[in-house]
Amino acid sequence: QSNAMWGGRFAEGPAAVMREINASIPFDKRLWRQDVAGSKAHVAMLGRQGIVSAADAAAIGAGLDQVAAQYQADGPAEDLALEDIHMQTEARLSAAIGEAAGRLHTARSRNDQVATDFKLWVRDAIDEVDAALAGFQRALLARAEEHAASVMPGFTHLQSAQPVTLGHHLMAYHEMIARDRGRFADARARANLCPLGSAALAGTGFPIDREMTAAALGFDGPTRNSLDAVSDRDFAIEYLTSAVQCSLHLSRLAEEIVLWASQPFGFVSLSDQWSTGSSIMPQKRNPDAAELVRGHSGRILGCLTSLMVTMKGLPLAYSKDMQDDKPPVFEAHDLLGLAVAAMTGMVESTLFRTDRMRAAAEAGFATATDLADWLVRVADIPFREAHHITGKVVRLAEAQGVALDRLALADMRAIDERIDERVFDVLSVDASVAARASFGGTAPERVRAAIAAARESM
Ligand code: ARG
Repeated sequence: QSNAMWGGRFAEGPAAVMREINASIPFDKRLWRQDVAGSKAHVAMLGRQGIVSAADAAAIGAGLDQVAAQYQADGPAEDLALEDIHMQTEARLSAAIGEAAGRLHTARSRNDQVATDFKLWVRDAIDEVDAALAGFQRALLARAEEHAASVMPGFTHLQSAQPVTLGHHLMAYHEMIARDRGRFADARARANLCPLGSAALAGTGFPIDREMTAAALGFDGPTRNSLDAVSDRDFAIEYLTSAVQCSLHLSRLAEEIVLWASQPFGFVSLSDQWSTGSSIMPQKRNPDAAELVRGHSGRILGCLTSLMVTMKGLPLAYSKDMQDDKPPVFEAHDLLGLAVAAMTGMVESTLFRTDRMRAAAEAGFATATDLADWLVRVADIPFREAHHITGKVVRLAEAQGVALDRLALADMRAIDERIDERVFDVLSVDASVAARASFGGTAPERVRAAIAAARESM
């Protein structure tokens, strides 16, 4: 049987595999809300412009509400014969109101229709991600406030470097997420022009009002070039680049959680809710969710790669390759949503073992820089020389198996007699973090100020 939409030109229907490879309904059914909204805006405009009669426009509008109610109740059907959500909406409309349904597609093509639907979907997706990321930031802020003065080792090369506060460390992720939200917001603002009315590729001869449909759908205005409008998937790519960047941040925190939950570190203990056991090893508490967040970032990058490669060789305007734009965006969105939710849950519920963190910070000679700085400040020694003297002091502490602030003054003076008892003011990890009060530094007072400023700017 030939196609209901374009059967006039065809004597025979498609091969079964043709039908299958051609169908997008298995995934684009997710666009049903946007498809109905776009059609309602379009038909209201057709009615207002006198392109269809007021009676038909009203009947179509009411019929689209019925279709929406059907979708809401049972979801779209996975009927491959109707190829996509656009054809299914029209078929359902036709079943609901009869002949007038055939006037809906006046001055429209599925090319501008799908571009519009997909943009609306991506816009909603951005709003959803933004809300989830704001929730994640609130979780980070709460834990950072709790631990504004909790000392832990800061690392470079994963070697103990200088003591930092856990609050400062968590606030680093708050910064990353703030940038991510900014990128999503930028993408949304750039995307917010409406393709509807570009028709197949060249515009239309009907006296449509594109300002009206754009405004009805919450766009800032209509797109300016019909060829670009139906060929453009930048908005989807920008969504994905923002998603990739965000997932990289989540992955880095996930990696730290995996590391910190390991026995040699022991910096965190994940709650039961966020741990998994082993089928053979009874002692296990594994950080699977963190590992999956780390893993998902790779898949999200794969989604971006997939869409970029789809788009790179396409001549203007629409080619069917572009139907493959949706699965990677949907997949990335679902993966990112899970990743953000999981990280939020873990950050909220993780037990931070501050005793272990402090012990690790004290064990790594992490205040060596403070000693060198003290030699510069108090004894007026050039930093290079101070570095050298401090290196010898560290070697001594290592040989004695003690922390820097447990060395005997006499032993330090044997290395350099300009060292006096005031040095003990700077050798503790608490003194070290308190001293780093420069803007953006790790001092507890700075961290508290950063938290207050962050709350202000959300
Ligand atoms: N199912 C198609 C898609 O998702 C709709 C657009 C079809 N346009 C066309 N010229 N065949 O891209």
